Amino acid sequence: MSLSEPFSTERLKFRLLQLNDLEAIYRQFSDPDMCKYFSDPPCDREEAKGIIEHYQSPEGKGHLRYGMFDIITEKFIGTCGYHYLDNDLKQVEIGYDIWKDYWRKGYISEALPVLLHICFEELEVECIYILADPQNKASIKSVSKFGFVECKPCRELDVEPQICMKLLRTEWYKETILEKEFTNGLGRISLKHPMGTFSLTPASYILIEAITNNKEILNGIGIDWGTGIGCLAILAAKIELVDKVYGLDISKENIYIAAKNAKDNNVTDKVCFMLADSYSPFNGEEKQEFDKLRGKVNFILSNPPSSDWDDGFGFRRIVLEGAREYLVKNGIVLLNISFQYGMKRVESLHKSMDGYNYMGVAASTDWVPFDLSRPDLLECLKIYSGEEVKGGLDYTFLADRSSENNFINAQTALDNYNKRGVSPLTQWQTHMFQYIG
Ligand SMILES: C[S@@+](CC[C@H](N)C(=O)[O-])C[C@H]1O[C@@H](n2cnc3c(N)ncnc32)[C@H](O)[C@@H]1O
Repeated sequence: MSLSEPFSTERLKFRLLQLNDLEAIYRQFSDPDMCKYFSDPPCDREEAKGIIEHYQSPEGKGHLRYGMFDIITEKFIGTCGYHYLDNDLKQVEIGYDIWKDYWRKGYISEALPVLLHICFEELEVECIYILADPQNKASIKSVSKFGFVECKPCRELDVEPQICMKLLRTEWYKETILEKEFTNGLGRISLKHPMGTFSLTPASYILIEAITNNKEILNGIGIDWGTGIGCLAILAAKIELVDKVYGLDISKENIYIAAKNAKDNNVTDKVCFMLADSYSPFNGEEKQEFDKLRGKVNFILSNPPSSDWDDGFGFRRIVLEGAREYLVKNGIVLLNISFQYGMKRVESLHKSMDGYNYMGVAASTDWVPFDLSRPDLLECLKIYSGEEVKGGLDYTFLADRSSENNFINAQTALDNYNKRGVSPLTQWQTHMFQYIG
């Protein structure tokens, strides 16, 4: 990426500051509320002009500052960037300021992933730090969410007191490697998952297995609904007869790293990631492109989250229902539905949805713990139990390994966990549906 090129996130457009931003920059760095936590004194117009000029043409320099603008109205929101790049110590300082009308609207959380990415990937530093006034609790909280921790000052302070918070590359992202022995001829895949993005779970791995086991029937155009860090889309794109896979996700952090993972795995030309709510991309142009896929999609992959507004199955209904608009006749859906949902729920899903043949389980693990030390799974179990209490279909877990027949429902599983801390067993599974029109 060229540092001078504009780019955008969901709500923000970033571009280098220009001289016609002078009034906005002057206002930003002279307003008393804004200056409360700045280490520099309020500026005048001449200094504001100097700031803009200082940050022009950042390539090869140790500092850069983008203006951040509302993507629709183009109104000035603030600035962000880096300075004090130290190539010997491989560290850089970052900073940002948001105009006071836009505080507490999550703009920093939207800008930070991009800024971190630029510093780690383009500047190739090992450490990013930020200096903050100890009273500026909001800023300290914002960066803590991204894994920044308090440390000794990374450089000599020009004003005191200041808190130094740093983030090391090794803390920013972990990497998962799918070795080539595991991908059944589709090669080695490396996946980065920075803080705040989705990490692969046992459910991801079973869908990976379903894809590699069924690679002969996957071809043409695919959709990866809820792509996370892009793992399934990238894997499917490695199949020779697959032309293109569209990865959809509601999290901008996921979409951003998914695109990066595609590049690292040399499949940029075969995947396209879109920020979307279900099958609806947010960006107008992407929506138009996606709409053209109606009736042309050969396969859909999905490991959806558990829904919290019903029996946990809501996203599966959404995936299967929406898929009908996009699939060609005989198109395939590989959908994760783990064992505990029970075959009755799978049958009722199939019955309630016209147009599909149910093709059975495409991949399954053996009995594995439904690990209730994972807060997300404990939350799911509580939802399941509530659904049973309301009179919904029972869920089915294996109580323990002592017997292959000792099945229990969600309420008993929750009771066992509360009383004895025991997690029940389930099988992570991918089911196959064929669209017959
Ligand atoms: C269980 S994760 C699966 C991620 C990845 N496919 C995998 O298997 O590793 C579910 C994904 O669905 C995304 N998601 C949740 N709600 C969504 C929605 N309404 N539209 C699109 N994606 C959504 C989440 O952000 C998350 O990345």
